[in-house]
Amino acid sequence: MTQSANQMWGGRFAAGPDAIMEAINASIGFDKRLARQDIDGSRAHAAMLAATGIITDSDAEAIREGLLTVLSEIEGGTFAFSTALEDIHMNVESRLKEVIGEPAGRLHTARSRNDQVAVDFRLWVRDQCDAAIAGIDALMRAFLDQAEAGAEWVMPGFTHLQTAQPVTWGHHMMAYVEMLARDAGRFRDARARMNECPLGAAALAGTSFPIDRHMTAAALGFDRPTANSLDSVSDRDFALEFLAASSICAMHLSRFAEELVIWSSAQFRFVRLSDRWSTGSSIMPQKRNPDAAELIRAKVARIMGANVALMMVMKGLALTYSKDMQEDKEQVFDAADSLMLALAAMTGMVGDMTANRDALARAAGAGFSTATDLADWLVRTLGLPFREAHHVTGSLVAAAEAKGCDLPDLTLADMQGVHAGITGDVFGVLGVENSVRSRLSYGGTAPERVREQVAAWRARLG
Ligand code: ARG
Repeated sequence: MTQSANQMWGGRFAAGPDAIMEAINASIGFDKRLARQDIDGSRAHAAMLAATGIITDSDAEAIREGLLTVLSEIEGGTFAFSTALEDIHMNVESRLKEVIGEPAGRLHTARSRNDQVAVDFRLWVRDQCDAAIAGIDALMRAFLDQAEAGAEWVMPGFTHLQTAQPVTWGHHMMAYVEMLARDAGRFRDARARMNECPLGAAALAGTSFPIDRHMTAAALGFDRPTANSLDSVSDRDFALEFLAASSICAMHLSRFAEELVIWSSAQFRFVRLSDRWSTGSSIMPQKRNPDAAELIRAKVARIMGANVALMMVMKGLALTYSKDMQEDKEQVFDAADSLMLALAAMTGMVGDMTANRDALARAAGAGFSTATDLADWLVRTLGLPFREAHHVTGSLVAAAEAKGCDLPDLTLADMQGVHAGITGDVFGVLGVENSVRSRLSYGGTAPERVREQVAAWRARLG
């Protein structure tokens, strides 16, 4: 069936698009999410057109009021979106024409969909940066609560997922506070960099109308207008930076999700996730599955996929706008939704989870976790060079292994059999509590240091 030519740009066309052409070309199915930003941008543009005398005040007033009517129809769910009208920009403008008539046609003066979509999308991504920062803030507070409660609870610290040295629960929780703070910083940096307004770049070259780009930039909360019209319509760095920041943040969430999966297993039992954050098995009644953690771990794949996909879309495009760029939005929408959901779920899980202090303490002492403390004692007390102390300690570990016991269970005679100079004092450093208490170096795991960090972060977060 031949359709009639597009009412917005079909002047030189005798026939409308093939149905499949229309399907591949249309973005309204997803860019309807930009409705509010589109209308904010258009209202700012109309006000500027009137202020600069390009259109009359009464036309601008009709346009600005009419756009609010259109917005309320969209938000009220009564708006009839049309695929033939391709995208949110033409859907809104076409409806505006029905609502206010002739003045609607003046809105698109000194503007193009190229700068229009650029400003809409920037506004949307800018909002998402703020949402991500707020979501990260909530999760940081959940980790801080856990850290404060368990500042001195001992647990194994791992490298290679092998027991390394005892650490405190609070210290482990605070490691995520540090990661999340950097994540929030990345969103803040990206937000500051993207906060320039592309509106007024028009199709690509700017416009011959005497527009005031500083006025529209200020009205939309941007710091300034973008400086190069070609760059303005072809740049999607802001979306890529959002996706990159999202990818790194999601990677952090995924690492803790992985720890939760391990820690909540019957073999570890370090944490118990609350009923609200566990699921059961339809066949194995004993199961408490950490599904949310597993799904968070998987969300990072989607988010990083979006980052790579948009990079691939952009990397081969000659300046300026190409329709390829319409493929930016779904990736960013999906990544933003995934990140926000993952942040909210992680905040819920962390807030509700219960550490199993006994299991943590038992595991902290297992696996010769205080071997380094023993080696340090040999250096400090007997004056051995560290390399030799390391060797002696290795022999003591082997002796304990042969006896089937842990280091503190060796007798003094066992120890002196390995190095004659060892005295009974050594047992003081073999306990895990003493071990963590001794790690007072700045950034170390000692409860005192952890409490300082908790207090410092509470003060910073306000
Ligand atoms: N729907 C388009 C997009 O998302 C809007 C810009 C269209 N511009 C154009 N010259 N066809 O990119």
